[in-house]
Amino acid sequence: MTKVGLVGLGYWGPNLARNFADLAELSWVCDASPDALERFRTRYPGTRTTTDYDEMLADPELDAVVVATPASTHYELAKRALEAGKHVFVEKPPATTAADAEDLLATAEANGLVLMPGHLLLYHPGVAALKRLVDTGELGEVLYLYSNRQNLGKIRADENALSSLGVHDLSVILYLLDEEPSEGWARGNSYLTPGIEDVVFCYLRFPSGKVAHMHLSWLDPQKMRRITVVGKEKMVVFDDMELERKVTIFEKGPWQPTEQYGEWQTRTGDIYSPKIPTDEPLRLECRHFLSLIAGEGDPLKAARDGLAVVRVLEQLQASLVAAPV
Ligand SMILES: NC(=O)c1ccc[n+]([C@@H]2O[C@H](COP(=O)([O-])OP(=O)(O)OC[C@H]3O[C@@H](n4cnc5c(N)ncnc54)[C@H](O)[C@@H]3O)[C@@H](O)[C@H]2O)c1
Repeated sequence: MTKVGLVGLGYWGPNLARNFADLAELSWVCDASPDALERFRTRYPGTRTTTDYDEMLADPELDAVVVATPASTHYELAKRALEAGKHVFVEKPPATTAADAEDLLATAEANGLVLMPGHLLLYHPGVAALKRLVDTGELGEVLYLYSNRQNLGKIRADENALSSLGVHDLSVILYLLDEEPSEGWARGNSYLTPGIEDVVFCYLRFPSGKVAHMHLSWLDPQKMRRITVVGKEKMVVFDDMELERKVTIFEKGPWQPTEQYGEWQTRTGDIYSPKIPTDEPLRLECRHFLSLIAGEGDPLKAARDGLAVVRVLEQLQASLVAAPV
């Protein structure tokens, strides 16, 4: 059984611990805080705990490391694990600069190791349904898409809404369109922590002419987790706040009665929600990492996709900083 070590037992790490304890052997957990480890010890008595990352990496039996610490530490911790010969699952974003993400990819490749950034939404059955609708042509030509990722909280002081929230939508947008944007800009504002934007609006244009927009905020009255894709034949909304109707397809679209003289009119048909499997995306994501370690599939595809996400994030972040105040 694959032996996994997890670093980072804050808000998110325990979810990864639960899944890897079920699917593999969770042999180590590491956190800089002894209190976090203490809370953990009673729940997983067979798992070794340490505040010293190097002690965990030095275990020759350990196959893989899962990094769930703050984003600013991802590159360094993932790099050290790869250099120690461990497969790496690193929470999103895998690095804060494209150069660092490229370096991680090169290190994994040189050492024949799996590197997988944790883009959770790519494992959501609702996103898989969106991808099918786009790829099979059921929506017709995709014109544009936009995401809403808003809530009151969780307010972060170490990364802005673009990095913390936008990374999710960006991974889905690039996955759905299968291309990287030729143009991107972001505008936002810091209200709470100087230099950390709580609210960010992003615009992306792709070589195919498609356009995407993201509204990202942890300073909003409503919790929204929504992606809307507008096609020429049909339109679809993925709403992760819905319990049952996660995906709604609208048979609505523009319509020209006669090509020659026709003014644009609109067409309205059925509105329906296909059944979406209720599998836990995190479980599917952890399973995918373990299957890559077992030699199934391209061990670095997820890392290359993750690098594209970091590249676009970097471009958006640069435009955010450069924006006139
Ligand atoms: N995929 C998702 O949906 C999702 C959701 C939430 C968070 N995340 C990601 O998970 C990561 C962790 O987020 P969080 O909210 O749990 O953060 P957090 O601040 O709650 O926890 C981070 C933990 O890491 C520990 N830590 C920090 N630096 C360390 C080091 N060098 N060595 C050992 N331990 C160290 C801290 O003591 C803390 O316990 C972030 O990258 C975040 O983006 C992903």
